[in-house]
Amino acid sequence: RTERVPREKTIDDTFKVLTEGYMYIPNRRARLRSNIFITRLLGQKVICIGGKEAAQLFYDTEKFQRKGAVPNRIQESLFGKKAVQALDGVEHQHRKQLFMSLMTKERLQWLTKITEKQWQQATKKWHKRKKITLFDEAREIMVRTACEWAGVPLQEEKVSERANDLGDMIDAFGAVGPRHWAGRQARNRSERWIRSIIEKVRAEELDASPDSALYAMAWHRDLDGKLLVSQIAAVELINIIRPIVAIARYVTFGAIALHDYPETREKLQADDGNYSQWFVQEVRRFYPFGPFLGARVKRDFIWQDCRFKKGTLVLLDIYGTNHDPKLWKKPNEFQPERFKDWEGSPFDFIPQGGGDYHKGHRCAGEWVTIEVMKTSLEFLTQKLDYQVPAQDLHIGTVRMPPLPESGFVLKNVHARL
Ligand code: HEM
Repeated sequence: RTERVPREKTIDDTFKVLTEGYMYIPNRRARLRSNIFITRLLGQKVICIGGKEAAQLFYDTEKFQRKGAVPNRIQESLFGKKAVQALDGVEHQHRKQLFMSLMTKERLQWLTKITEKQWQQATKKWHKRKKITLFDEAREIMVRTACEWAGVPLQEEKVSERANDLGDMIDAFGAVGPRHWAGRQARNRSERWIRSIIEKVRAEELDASPDSALYAMAWHRDLDGKLLVSQIAAVELINIIRPIVAIARYVTFGAIALHDYPETREKLQADDGNYSQWFVQEVRRFYPFGPFLGARVKRDFIWQDCRFKKGTLVLLDIYGTNHDPKLWKKPNEFQPERFKDWEGSPFDFIPQGGGDYHKGHRCAGEWVTIEVMKTSLEFLTQKLDYQVPAQDLHIGTVRMPPLPESGFVLKNVHARL
């Protein structure tokens, strides 16, 4: 049967993933006119799938597992070892509940307040500077926000070092060579830092507020009733802090969108409560961040005439699904209003994964991301005036993750009167 499924005639396409980046799967889906094709990557057969039906399949936990799907190099830099991302079944659900329990309405409202306060404090000094680099500043603001929300003490003189380390872990995910090694070292340093904090909480040398992520991770008990070893508790607490820092990239993309599509700025300034939601959704759909996700076939099955054999690596095309012309009208245009009519399917808009939060691996921090983005972009448009000097703001689709060279320089930043 599998003979009918398009196949890349290649010995190994790994190099092409590095050179085509986010477009590797979408280019082939378009060329082969198929939502499924077979290729070879890192010396193994890989099935690539994309689109809504593919996402629905990918999130069927009867058919797929994550064990053995996350490459070591990603665990050593981005995720950490033995983290929620690589668990399956009841063990995964139990650990995931730990994350989801932090996402209550009250805690999200509190996070919004912290975010706004941190922007206010940071921007107070900006009028004294001729220019600032938005990405760098946003990253520090996010580190402060994340630590305050998570209950993690942060020494003032360490802020920029921590911001660099957490940023380097994110920056490493699509990298080979020095960028990957920087990510690994950053992870080692960050794990040491957070592990010592967890240990202090357990030794009652440091107070953790019962509604903080620090407390939750320090005192979480696994299914066998035991506390997590402090190393894993640290990895999971970093799984809260690091991705909040990652929101700095989306804030920068959002600010670039406001610049590139000035009509959106006016609408966001006059927001009636809906527009900011559509705007941040469109930023998350339009700009590249997560390229694809991997899982391994749990047991043999057939889908669209393709035999999925147990153990095979399958990649779900995130970027291409968010730009799929069958799902999105004019997918390469930035149009926040498209979300007015979006039906809210868990499988067609998947910048942070799809499916169910509790049962599957969909991002635990999607609501956090949306709220922090809204607060940050509303602050930028409603509370600040600034000018954008000439610079190259192109956001490419090859480097993973992308960022314009300048990091988005702003000048003459002042509080709005
Ligand atoms: C998982 C993207 C922000 C916590 C994921 C996944 C993606 C993703 C693609 C994988 C989904 C899957 O494997 O099926 C992003 C992006 C973010 C972001 C682009 C914003 C820049 C956050 C935030 C948090 C967070 C703010 C926490 C506060 C997690 C956790 C997982 C996850 C814990 C693992 C879930 C699991 O394996 O069950 N994220 N995320 N993320 N994310 Fe996020």
